[in-house]
Formats: sequence, C-alpha cells, structure tokens
Amino acid sequence: MCGIIGCVGCGDQTLTTLVHGLSKLEYRGYDSAGVALVGDDGLQVVKKAGELDSLRGELDALEGVSGTLGVGHTRWSTHGPPTDENAHPHQDCTGDVGVVHNGIIENYQSLRDELESAGHTFESDTDTEVVPHLVEEGLEDGLDAEAAFREAVSRLDGAFALACVVAGSDAVLVARNDSPLVLGIDDGATYLASDVPAFREFTDRVVYLDDGEFARLDADGWRVSDVKGETIEKSVETVEWDAEDTGKSGYDHFMLKEIHEQPRALRQCLQGRVDELGGTVTLEELGDLEPDRIHLVAAGTSYHAAVYGSQLLQADGVPAQAFFAHEYASSPPPDTDALVVGVSQSGETADTLSATRTARRHGAETLALTNTVGSTMARECDHVCYIRSGPEIGVAATKTFAGQQTALNLLTQVATPGPSDRDVIEALRELPSDTQEILDESNAETVAEELLDSDAYFFIGRALNYPVALEGALKMKEITYKHAEGFAAGELKHGPLALVTGNTPVFATVVGDGELARKTIGNVKEVEARDAPVVAVTDGVSDVKRYADHVLEVPDTHPRTAAILANVQLQLVSYYTAAKLGRSIDKPRNLAKSVTVE
Ligand code: F6R
Repeated sequence: MCGIIGCVGCGDQTLTTLVHGLSKLEYRGYDSAGVALVGDDGLQVVKKAGELDSLRGELDALEGVSGTLGVGHTRWSTHGPPTDENAHPHQDCTGDVGVVHNGIIENYQSLRDELESAGHTFESDTDTEVVPHLVEEGLEDGLDAEAAFREAVSRLDGAFALACVVAGSDAVLVARNDSPLVLGIDDGATYLASDVPAFREFTDRVVYLDDGEFARLDADGWRVSDVKGETIEKSVETVEWDAEDTGKSGYDHFMLKEIHEQPRALRQCLQGRVDELGGTVTLEELGDLEPDRIHLVAAGTSYHAAVYGSQLLQADGVPAQAFFAHEYASSPPPDTDALVVGVSQSGETADTLSATRTARRHGAETLALTNTVGSTMARECDHVCYIRSGPEIGVAATKTFAGQQTALNLLTQVATPGPSDRDVIEALRELPSDTQEILDESNAETVAEELLDSDAYFFIGRALNYPVALEGALKMKEITYKHAEGFAAGELKHGPLALVTGNTPVFATVVGDGELARKTIGNVKEVEARDAPVVAVTDGVSDVKRYADHVLEVPDTHPRTAAILANVQLQLVSYYTAAKLGRSIDKPRNLAKSVTVE
C-alpha cells in the first residue's frame, strides 16, 4: 500500500534522501510516486504515474529541484486511477501546501462539496486532496501552519497517516490515525516514514506514533503531541536489524533472498524459547496465559498459517479455530473466553486489526503474533509474540509464513497443559538445518522448467498439509499469474477432479506412510489416471514416488515440521516458474505488501 517518507535536517541531501526512502518503500506496492520540498523558492512538487524511475526522470529533466525539508509518497490507487494528477503530494489552490496520505478519508466527498462551494478547485479524483484545501482555509483564517494542519485533521473521518509541508514553514507536520507512521531520530536530522526500511540506512533509533498523535519535525528535532497540542512523552526504541537486511545481498530478487534466509529466521524464532535439555518451551511474552480456547484471525498467507496453527492446537486438545479476519470482524463468534490471536506479518493489515479490535470490544484477551516490532497490532493487543523473521520486502510472504508456523508450534506447546512434546522439540531443533538441506539440494528449478507450459497448477494435501496446499497455490498464482488452486486432497473427487487434465500438474504433499499418506496416494492415483503430471513433495517414507513424475524431497522428520519444509519446496517452484516467465516477482501486479484498507 502507499508509502510515506519525510525528512528535516538533511540539508542539500534532502531530495536524495526522499527518493532513496521511496525506493525502500517500493516493496509495499505502488503505481505512482512524488515529492514535495520546501526551500527558499517556496514549495516545489514533482510527481509522476508509474515506477519510481519515471519520477527520477522528471526530476532530472527539471533540474534544480531542491529544498531543506520535504515529504515523498508512493501511491497505490484507491480513489481514482494511477495518473500524474492523482499521484501525491496534493496541493491547495495557492500551491503553498503539500500533503501526502496513506489510508482512506471516509467523509472526503462532503468535505469536497463544501470546499468546492467555497470556491476551491480540485485537480485530482483523490480523497486526499481535501486536506491541503482544508489547511489552506486555516491559513486564510490566520492560523499558523501547525494550527491549520490540526484544524484540518480534526475534520477528517477515516484511516490516515498524513504528512504536510507548507511554504515558508520550517516544519514537517504529521498526524496518525489507523495507518502506520514511525519517526527516525538521528543527530541533526529527523525522518518519518510508513515503515523503518525507508530511513534505516541513516538511523536505528525510532519512535512509533500511536493513533490520535501529531508530530512536528523541525530543525530543533521532534515533538509528539495529542489532539489538544499537549506534549506526549515517547520512548525512543532501537531497531534490531541492519540496513543490509533490506538489500538483495546479491540475489536476483528479494523473494529468493528471503526464501534462503529461512534457516536463520527460524533459528531466531526458536532462540531462547526452546530448552532442549529440559525439553521445555517458554514464551516469556505470554506470562502464565492458559487459554481455554483459541481463535486465530488472519488474512492471506497468514490465514494459511492460522489454519495450520489451529490444527496443531486441536490435535493437542486445545479447542481452536481459524477465521478469515474480515469475517471475524463483522460477525464474531459469541465466546469471549477465547484468546484471540491476530496472525499478521505486518501487524498493520486492516482486516486483521479490525478483527482483534472487535475481539477486544467484546471482552476477549488478544495476542498479536507478528513480525513487525512496534506495529499497530503489537501495540494494541494484550500480548505479543514476535516471530523474529527480520524484514520481509518481497510482496509474497515466504520466510514469515515459516516463522508463523514455527511460532505457532511454540504457542501450541505453551498452551497445551502438561509437559512439552519432546519429539516436536527435537524436530523444531532440527528445522533450521533441515530447511538448509532443502535449499542446498532442491531440484525445484528443474521441476518449474519442465512444467512451465501448464494450463493450471493444483496442490493437494491432508490435515497439516492442507494449508500447505493452499499456500502453495497462493504463492504460485500471485507471482506467476497462472491459475493455481489448493485443495483438501479428500475433496478432490467431490468436484475439483473435473479440472484435472494432462496439462494440469498436481503437487501432492505426502509425509510418512500412515493412513493420511495412504489416502493421499489414492488421490495421486486418481489424477495420474487422468494423465496429470504428479509432483510428490515427500519424505520418501511411503511409496508415493512410484506414482510421481517429479519428486521434491523433504527430510524425514516430524509431520508438524514436515509441513513447514514442504512449503519451502513449493516456494522455490513458484519462484522459478515466475522467474522463467519473466514476472515482476517482488512486486506482483495489483498487489501490495501491507493491505491497510478494509
Ligand atoms: C501473500 C501475502 C498476503 C498476506 C496478507 C496478510 O503472499 O503476503 O496474502 O499474507 O495480506 O498480511 P499480513 O500477514 O501482513 O497481515
């Protein structure tokens, strides 16, 4: 979704800093970009539809765009198509006010009608443009820039992160409500952004803004205040990852890099939480929480992790259910004794936040299971468990899915009465090296090449491998744009089998040689009889290889971790299929990394 960057105190590096920040926000998904700078020549705004290179080209062509403070924006269209006019920053009638915005202003139409009746003219289709015109009104009434901005914000309903600059003012003005904003604090310079990677290269000290807070960034530093202008004391936190973590480190794509980071990410997730000698799991963050039942709420890939987690919990005797966050938000089940776990990489997904907020309103205790320190969900929920995967830049979630699965294994051990399961602990201990083994030896690239011309890709699995099938298909469709579906293997002959042909490969995950494996092999035979190429993702314990055209091996381990490992093979197949098709792997069309609108 949209990204915001701003800076004060960067001197003649202001424009460079803004454009660099925008490049670091590209991963969030966008279709236009722009900057606004304030300097001796007043306010200069440059914005272009398309990739950041179009903006760079325009800045080069214009020459001399400069300033000593400014804001920048990457826009992911909601109100109006991706045109130069709809790109941010937006300005008022005088051209002295520049505003960038993430989120949605719900009452923009009535405000626009009112402003138009008062003589304001609008240049764009966006909801955002009402804000600079409202600020203009305040300035005309004699307010200073900060007071005019506050007054404007007080008129808005909806979700927003806003940053405003005004010609002649020495400050960047900021407001947050339901959309993430973080300040970066350096000696002599202050930054603001929707996400830390935008300024991580310059500082690791951050201040997370909360809903209803305003901030003023100027040459003297920064000040956070409430709606009445009263100063709010904020703590400065330190980010625990490096700027290099947001680079590609020699990989062609962030997605491939992040797939390869999984052994480290999983090690970090487990570190200090599993006592191998004592055979115990501790999640200090949860205190002595002993939930009677658990509801997991999530969207997309995180929902697949939630389905996986609910199965683990149920298997160990804790009543648990996974819900699509958007459904939970609008019609929550009545049991308020459930611990409601928001599973979200970003901790900013609007649907999932809405679900955890609904749960809180209904009196339930909430837990954020997230990757993003300081995210809205982490701050709002009663408890937080970080998955510690490190920054994930590729739009398609990879290492964070494995991190969520791993953390849900830990949560299951903690939530289940009685001692931890030593077999699970042993398998978790080996998980990082098992993952490395797959990355070192996978033949996924060959499989991708041989199946490249397929009409569609199907994924099947039972029990813990059902969410793996769903996730395998989601990854394939989002980065290759090919038709892909995940099915519960047992459902195949109840309908989906009609889709199976000689040009629709079926990826079947088969682990062990128990009843589930035998039944899935039965499904494999059914698709084989319809000439479908079969790809077995297997530990080789059963005889599924006999029926498979291709095999993707996973180490022989506990079924709970096998489901994490099988997914790594499927991630690689999707990645190489997309790479061979020349797709925009890290920024698939129409998608955004963090979906902050419902
Ligand atoms: C798919 C993907 C999305 C997200 C979903 C939820 O690769 O990344 O489906 O999983 O938008 O996002 P988070 O986990 O940030 O709540």
